Amino acid sequence: MTEIRELLLRRIRDVADYPEPGVMFKDITPLLADPAAFTALTDALAEIAERTGATKVVGLEARGFILGAPVAVRAGLGFIPVRKAGKLPGATLAQAYDLEYGSAEIEVHAEDLTAGDRVLIVDDVLATGGTAEASVQLIRRAGAEVAGLAVLMELGFLSGRVRLEPSLNGAPLEALLTV
Ligand code: PRP
Ligand code: MG
Repeated sequence: MTEIRELLLRRIRDVADYPEPGVMFKDITPLLADPAAFTALTDALAEIAERTGATKVVGLEARGFILGAPVAVRAGLGFIPVRKAGKLPGATLAQAYDLEYGSAEIEVHAEDLTAGDRVLIVDDVLATGGTAEASVQLIRRAGAEVAGLAVLMELGFLSGRVRLEPSLNGAPLEALLTV
């Protein structure tokens, strides 16, 4: 394992039975509290933004905001928040998606993305891929192109990558860690 992976992995805390019995929650707050680890994470994601030729960074509420905003600053790109429904004041595009139980909806300000934009989507975790898939659809509907999807951690056993790859149309899905 490379040095950066070890640094990141050491700062992710496993919390058993949260938020419900049987779930092992990946808590990234120790990583955020460690400036060396958070800087290394930001640099690694910003390198992906540069390599994929992204012109904007989209962060997915809420943890994708924490990771994505410093990446945008580091890469010298604008940051666009994709929010849970009902939080953005302007004209929005909305995308619904299914959860294990029920459904959810995310939104983006319509004016924030246009044709010609190449967007790197940033989030902390790829689990089932539902959130990321909805954000890909939202970005395409705004007329922009998806440059890639970058996550700190992919939960391989949930097969989000398999679900997502058809909608990514060849854009890279980069996970710094696979657990
Ligand atoms: C979590 C996580 C990812 C998403 C992954 O967000 O931060 O965004 O779930 O799950 P999926 O691949 O199955 O869609 P969540 O909305 O639970 O919490 P947050 O607001 O703290 O980011
Ligand atoms: Mg999230």
